[in-house]
Formats: sequence, structure tokens, C-alpha cells
Amino acid sequence: MPVQIKTQRETLLEAIETYGSPLYFYDAEKIITQIEKMRNAFRGVDLKLKYACKALTNINILKLMNKHGVDVDVVSVEEAQIALRAGYAPTQIQYTPSGVPFSEIEEAVALGIRMNLDSLQVIEQFGEQFGSSMPICLRVNPSIMGGGNAKISVGHANSKFGIPYQQFDEVVKLTKKYGLKVIGLHQHTGSDFKNAEVIIDAAEVLYKLAMDYFPELEFIDLGSGFKVAYSADDYVTDMESLGKKVVESFNAFTKRYGKPIQLWFEPGKYLVSECGYLLTKATVIKHNPSVSFVGIDSGLNHLIRPMMYDAYHEIENLSNSDGEKKMYHVVGYICENDTFGEDRMLNEVSVGDVISIKNAGAYAFSMASNYNSRVRPAEVMLYNNELKLIRRRETLEDVLETQIEVL
Ligand code: LLP
Repeated sequence: MPVQIKTQRETLLEAIETYGSPLYFYDAEKIITQIEKMRNAFRGVDLKLKYACKALTNINILKLMNKHGVDVDVVSVEEAQIALRAGYAPTQIQYTPSGVPFSEIEEAVALGIRMNLDSLQVIEQFGEQFGSSMPICLRVNPSIMGGGNAKISVGHANSKFGIPYQQFDEVVKLTKKYGLKVIGLHQHTGSDFKNAEVIIDAAEVLYKLAMDYFPELEFIDLGSGFKVAYSADDYVTDMESLGKKVVESFNAFTKRYGKPIQLWFEPGKYLVSECGYLLTKATVIKHNPSVSFVGIDSGLNHLIRPMMYDAYHEIENLSNSDGEKKMYHVVGYICENDTFGEDRMLNEVSVGDVISIKNAGAYAFSMASNYNSRVRPAEVMLYNNELKLIRRRETLEDVLETQIEVL
């Protein structure tokens, strides 16, 4: 019997019919492809990938990353705990906190997790408490504007993140005072950067600090921010060409530095954005005098990026792929203006059609909420050509579980 290969559309339709609507769908193969693309682009250096798991924290995604040799970058003790449960060793986990209570850092250190510190105050606290007992990384604010929009630009002079590069004389006083062992320097300018040069410029800031102050580094961590395509003609980071430039500048630096060290990146979107689809069903078609709406059984509670960042996500009607194209505003069911897309040409939509929203792997489920007391969707992963349920749909009981009735 010849094996019947399903088209992607057929697989997505099968997923929503099997597991219900709305549904998050992730294609594991796409994640593996993205990992490989990064490895290829940075051949020629000792590369370490640290998946920024805030993008998509399902434990199965973390296990998949680990299986493919990708370590993890976390931003909370909770993420660190999920990574440990996924099978990561504490030393594979780098925790980059910003503004957390020091007790969280104590908790992480007790678990053996590697810290990336981002203020003079926290270095002082860390020094007093732990001295040289655990090597650390320092997050540098390189004073560079990178990132697709103001809300996700984090490396500029007025950003709360990182230690301004101008304050490293003070940093070094503290590291000497407490005998701290600095083994890494880190920077991250922001997500969706449009000009790949920002990463080279930021790297130069770190190289200079390394040469001036830190002779014992084991790695330089250049963060992430790589741009993926949200539409057909979107700007994307050309990983191959960026890889060549970074490898060249990094190797020139390590020559000056006098010893080989690792180069780290912390990709989130690049690894998981395009693997994901939010599958929904059309609930209402409304033809107003000036505009037609498609209402779907989801909203900003499940995918907030279009409303929060004006992010563009491609939308498709999977049920009527040959239908006549018509223009719609695609809107959610939340009592707010939760518009997923305006003036979208979709194959004519009928109630019940499956409406798929693309790039729903990164910062989609992970930013979902229970607003309007709605439950969060199930998640499925296509793995070795098999659909696997990796999170069940929430129920009203889940929503009520933490409430305490006192009246
Ligand atoms: N490293 C650090 C220190 C970060 O803060 C981030 C993202 C990353 C790595 C991963 O960046 P990526 O490869 O995903 O661009 N919710 C926003 C994005 C916020 C990113 C926060 N930090 C969005 O949906 O566009």
C-alpha cells in the first residue's frame, strides 16, 4: 500500500476535527528545521543555542529542544522549574531575571541554575550572598535601538534591561570586592529587529568590555531578536548572511582575546513562531454597509499580538480553499475591539469554516489569558507524522479552581 501523505491543510483540518476548536497546533519538524538553519548559519564558531522558552513553554517543546541539543533561557523561576521537569540539567539553564525579588534568585541558585545579572544592586546582593560560589553572566545594556516596535525594544539607553556599558568600572569594583567569577557577557536589543547590523554593533560593545575587564569569559551571549516572516513579503533576518558576518567578527575577537570561547544565542521566535497555527471556527458573518466581519470562536484572550503590538498574522479559510476571495475584518469574541486582521482577502467564509491564524507558535499560547472567563485552548503537536495532544483544553473548573468562595 502506498503511504498517503497528507497535505498540511488536511492535517490542520484533521487536528481541529479531532481535538475541537479553538486549537493551537505546532509542527515539530518546522522547529527542527529552524534549529538546523541556525547551526548551519553559524558554522565556524563553537555555537550554543539557548531557547528563549517564554515564547512557548509547553514542556514537550522544551523536551524537543533538549533532544536536539538546544539549551534553555528562562525569565522566571517557574520557567526554570518547567525546564528542570523537561529534563534539563541546571547548568543548561540560564536565568535572566529583570526586577524580580532577590528571593527568586536565591531559589534559582539553590537549584543550581546559572544566573545572568542585570543591575549593580543585584550584583552587590549576589556577591554578599554567594561570592565566588557560582560563576555568573552579566547582561549589558549596549545602548542600541533594535527591535520591531517600541514595546519590544530593550537594548536602548532608556530601557530597564541590562547594565549600561558605561557603568562597567563600577561593575568591576563589585566583582573584585566579592571575588565574582564572570564567565559570560550577554546582550539582547529586542525582538523583530529589522536591521541585522544591530547584533554586530552590540557584539562590538561586548567584545570591548571583554577585552577591557573580563579575561576569563567562557561565552558571549548575543541574545536574539531575529525577524521571521509574518506575511509573504515581510522582511526576514537572512540568517546565512548574518551568520557569516557574526562568525567573522566573533573569530576576529577571540583571536584578540587570546582563547576560544562559545558564542550563544537565545532564539524564541526564530525557532517556534512559524511552527504554530491557531485554528478557530467562524461563528458569525456580518455584512455591514461598509465592511464585512468574520467572527471567530477565539479572541485576544488566546492571541494578543495583533491587538497589543499591531502585529500582522496571516489568516486563511482552510475549509473553502477554492472559494471566491472576499474582503473581511476578522474579529474575536471578546467584549473589546479584538481584531485579528482588517481588510483580509479570504476565500468566502461560511459559519463553521476553519479559520487558521499563522505564526502562532511564539508569544501566542504563552501570552494567553482567561479574560472574559474564557478557557484557554488545547495544544497539539505534529511529531513524526502523528498528532499528539500536549495540553488539554481548560474547563470552567480550571478557571474557578483558585477562587475562594467566602460569601
Ligand atoms: N533573550 C532575551 C533576554 C529576551 O528578552 C527575549 C525576548 C529573547 C531572548 C527572545 O527573543 P525572540 O527570539 O523571541 O525575538 N511578546 C513579544 C516579544 C517579547 C520578547 C521578550 N523577550 C512579541 O510577541 O513580539
